[in-house]
Amino acid sequence: MDGYPSLAYDIIAHEMDRPTLFKDESKLFPDHVPTNLVHREPELKALSRVFKVLLESPGSVAQKVTLVGDVGVGKTAVAKRFGSSIESLVKGKGINLRYVHVNCYKDRTLFLVIKKVAQQILPSIPDRGFSAQELFETLWKILEDENIYLLLALDEADFLISASGEKDAPLYFLSRVADEYLNRPQRLSLILITRNLEFLSGLDKSVQSSLLHNVVRFEKYTSEQLFDIIHARGMDALKESALSEEVLAMISDISAPRGDARYALELLWRAGKYADAEAAERILPEHVRKAQLDVSQFPMHTVQELPLHERLFLLSVAKVLKRNKSAYVTMGEVESTYRVLCESNSIEPRKHTQFWEYLQNLKNLGILYTKISGAGFRGKTTLIGLLNLSVEAVERGLKDLEG
Ligand SMILES: Nc1ncnc2c1ncn2[C@@H]1O[C@H](COP(=O)(O)OP(=O)(O)OP(=O)(O)O)[C@@H](O)[C@H]1O
Ligand SMILES: [Mg+2]
Repeated sequence: MDGYPSLAYDIIAHEMDRPTLFKDESKLFPDHVPTNLVHREPELKALSRVFKVLLESPGSVAQKVTLVGDVGVGKTAVAKRFGSSIESLVKGKGINLRYVHVNCYKDRTLFLVIKKVAQQILPSIPDRGFSAQELFETLWKILEDENIYLLLALDEADFLISASGEKDAPLYFLSRVADEYLNRPQRLSLILITRNLEFLSGLDKSVQSSLLHNVVRFEKYTSEQLFDIIHARGMDALKESALSEEVLAMISDISAPRGDARYALELLWRAGKYADAEAAERILPEHVRKAQLDVSQFPMHTVQELPLHERLFLLSVAKVLKRNKSAYVTMGEVESTYRVLCESNSIEPRKHTQFWEYLQNLKNLGILYTKISGAGFRGKTTLIGLLNLSVEAVERGLKDLEG
């Protein structure tokens, strides 16, 4: 068979050789922590203020801070970036500080958390036959012998439970360690990360107050902030020619109600994949809509069960979007296509005033969304975009109206 590559070989070789819009797609992956976290300077500064003491007089106090905020607002990324930065910063001053990030969703008990820490500080530490407390004491001894300070981030801390299922035992233990080793240097500082502070309310009062002493709140990202984030990450991950302002703005607008950077980055990554699959020269709005369909499945029957004129209206939006290859359409454009569609279906068109009602209904269903025009339009115009569905999907679902 030498010299006669199989068909499968050809397919694979060809596929792998295909041109791509990506430079390094891993830069868009959710666990990538970028060096620069735009729009999180205030949060990074707040953390720096809390932990300044680790630099000035390590061992004097055990600092605790709680980071709180919704999904995808950068809590994990900020903690990790802060952790690695402070590690190298204090190293320059001869201080041995180790940052350990534990995800409590994966490591749910005190024992597993301590084991994770032990493995990172001293990989050879045995973890068998120990109780959590014993393992902790061994670890503590190493910290003292080697003069190491520990900054421990407990991410998704709500999932932390004790072996017997009590919620507060592990946090009680970790936040009260200081009392056990009074008069000795404090070696354990904590960063607690959660989406909701409510879980603290069930905890011991002293634990609560020590954890609520320093709280850094992460607000949802606005559309403009999301734009800057996906722009920065997009430039690292994709060829410059792949990105357009229109597509970046579209993704930011779609993601803005959630304020979630992870969602926006996933949309960009998937849209890039769709563009590559079509060997497109850049990412287009339709690639974003397809990407969105993957991320949030929208039930097609909802579209098919809409009242007739709402279906006609929606199909018109899709048709204009397709024709213009754009992210948004104007009401005027939709209206004229709607009239043509009505005519080809021998349906009496409804009056202009009805359209705002259709639009409102389709918005409420999460099928359309609107924004007010900015630069490039005269006056203020309502722009209409398609949400949760691709143009292709709408056309397929409503093909009986194609006339
Ligand atoms: N300011 C930013 N600049 C660049 N990337 C960011 C920024 N904020 C968040 N990200 C990225 O968005 C994604 C989600 O952020 P992160 O994982 O930190 O969210 P989170 O607040 O921990 O959410 P969750 O509560 O779901 O764990 C990550 O890929 C992260 O790197
Ligand atoms: Mg997180």
